[in-house]
Amino acid sequence: MKEADLKVLTGKDLVAVLDFRKLPKVLLHEHLDGGVRPSTVIELARENGYGGLPTEDAGELAAWFHRGAQKGNLPEYLEGFQHTCGVMQTKEALQRVAYEFLEDMKQDGVVYSEVRFAPLLHTEGGLTQDEVVNSVLAGLRHGEKDFGVKWGLIICALRHLDSSLEAAELAIRWRDAGVVGFDLAGGESGFPPKKHIDAFHAIQRANFQITIHAGEAFGLESIWQALQYCGAHRLGHATRLRDDIQIREDGSLKLGILAQYVLDRRIPLEMCLYSNLHTGACKNLTEHPFGLFFRNGFRVCLNTDDRLMSDTTMTKETVLATELFDLSLAELERLNMNAVKSAFAPFDTRVDIIYNTIKAGYAAIRGERE
Ligand code: HPA
Ligand code: ZN
Repeated sequence: MKEADLKVLTGKDLVAVLDFRKLPKVLLHEHLDGGVRPSTVIELARENGYGGLPTEDAGELAAWFHRGAQKGNLPEYLEGFQHTCGVMQTKEALQRVAYEFLEDMKQDGVVYSEVRFAPLLHTEGGLTQDEVVNSVLAGLRHGEKDFGVKWGLIICALRHLDSSLEAAELAIRWRDAGVVGFDLAGGESGFPPKKHIDAFHAIQRANFQITIHAGEAFGLESIWQALQYCGAHRLGHATRLRDDIQIREDGSLKLGILAQYVLDRRIPLEMCLYSNLHTGACKNLTEHPFGLFFRNGFRVCLNTDDRLMSDTTMTKETVLATELFDLSLAELERLNMNAVKSAFAPFDTRVDIIYNTIKAGYAAIRGERE
């Protein structure tokens, strides 16, 4: 196929001729405990005497997680995490899951990834939170050495607990070892981000970086608080920002002041298509606001959220978005540029990835097919 053809193909036609796994991709929103391999969950359960799994067959277990995640609301979606966290309670287990995460990223064509987790959920076996973080970082370093995928680690606090300041201090303590930022995760409804203001102030005073799950299971108020009370630099999901946009009869948009602010300030939106379908953040994928946001200049990127629960990969999310929103190769490059520009990696690393990996990689793909 000629270079010119690849440039004009979009949507399903592009999917038909291009190996999406080979596209250089950047992933900013993935949960470490949401992406464990089913076979690893089973092996770790055996090694550590964890008896709570519903089955010991990897295929059935994957299907079990996926079924559980499709109930259409976030609290039930999150129930499966008790098992992945249940088997991630030793240093060896944490290292292994982190290492395999980067191996999976390599397989999936991901060149830079930020992965997040809540250390507090891994202390039931007696590890301290510092030991937990240290083990995950060791696994990531080892994985980078073997697979060449760059990474950053994000520490999550949980919205329903009152330990977010402790989580923020933990994140700051490990910033020189690969922790790049701080997040607030867990059930959104009934747990507004501003309840955790002390944690966010600690992060801000340390000149550190913030992303917050907002606008997934709750609406504009949550997004507004995340930005204007808590100082979020990026938003996880932000699907409900759609509520602040009207489409006029002539097709033009009328943005509310929050949506206008997000657009003007170039606030990155870490969007997760399959996960949004599973948690009920969107009714169906064709109505997902990703296309509307992207085509109107919002800084959106594609993400997996929880590869195990949502049975997804970056390749699948990219194929899905391409088919749903009729994307071109140039638009896929732009999406990944959006992601790398929004990464919490230092500026020099981002510039290096932009020029030497994304731009060079997409140019090579166009050239390869001449
Ligand atoms: N939202 C909030 N917390 C989470 C999610 C999510 O989609 N996935 C894993 N933890
Ligand atoms: Zn998430």
